[in-house]
Amino acid sequence: MPVLSLWQQWRNQVDFTINQLIQWKRAGYQDTWEDKTPFFEEFDFLKATEAELVERYPHLRTMEQRSSLVRYLMNLNRALVCEQLLTLAKSETHYSTMLEVGIKNGEMLDGLWAVCHERLSQDVSLTGIECDMWRISDGLHSRWDKAQYYSQHLPNTSIIAGDAGQHHGRYDLIWFFLPFVFPETADAWGFPRSLYHPAELFEHLITQCLNDGGLLLVTHQVDEEAQALRALLSTPALSSSLQHLGTMELSQPFTTHHPQHVHIGQVWRKKKDA
Ligand SMILES: C[S@@+](CC[C@H](N)C(=O)[O-])C[C@H]1O[C@@H](n2cnc3c(N)ncnc32)[C@H](O)[C@@H]1O
Repeated sequence: MPVLSLWQQWRNQVDFTINQLIQWKRAGYQDTWEDKTPFFEEFDFLKATEAELVERYPHLRTMEQRSSLVRYLMNLNRALVCEQLLTLAKSETHYSTMLEVGIKNGEMLDGLWAVCHERLSQDVSLTGIECDMWRISDGLHSRWDKAQYYSQHLPNTSIIAGDAGQHHGRYDLIWFFLPFVFPETADAWGFPRSLYHPAELFEHLITQCLNDGGLLLVTHQVDEEAQALRALLSTPALSSSLQHLGTMELSQPFTTHHPQHVHIGQVWRKKKDA
């Protein structure tokens, strides 16, 4: 194994352990509002899509009033992605509890919440979990500080700092945007190898956390990751309890650097008698 890779793994582990010990919290985090008009004047082909999205999901209009340009665009993309995945699942009703695994700092919870609140249930309840929650970033705030700030505007939403592989709770929907399925990707992200167990993690989520009849909705950066996850979920025990509802390219047109970055999405349903 190259020395550089070993060094990176060691550094990731040390950073993670120190952050877990300190559990840094600092009050006062706020997103800074920015005027979105100049952006939509420059990229005026996006105006109509934004207007339609905000019409379908009014929460996005509210979040625009307290968000930076980049965070607003991220949440427009996230809302579109969630909408596309729910359409793939052909699901409109009767789901109300959901878990998002790997929320990072919670900056895109709004987009998810906005869509699920309109399409699934007005009483939707959302739990966001992140195992590397104590990382400190700009402004000397941890991901925890930011997740608290972003989630305070979302009714029935709670945030957990912890490993989803150890989490106990039952949900109708489990969302996982960009899970690590290759160790090199996890290393490059700064993720500790001690927590990198994708097969065990997905098995736990499906067998212990997903309700019968519930949905697992996942996105990936590239098709190889989508294939790798399908391979992980093809063990006899899991494949007999899951129905793969499909894989699709996900459009994410809202970006300050064009052309847009397309992701891959896939959805499974846990069989009722699993
Ligand atoms: C590639 S990042 C994606 C972050 C975010 N979901 C997004 O769409 O930008 C994967 C995230 O999943 C988190 N994660 C990975 N394994 C986890 C686990 N077992 N429990 C909780 N979070 C986990 C990582 O810490 C990281 O923040």
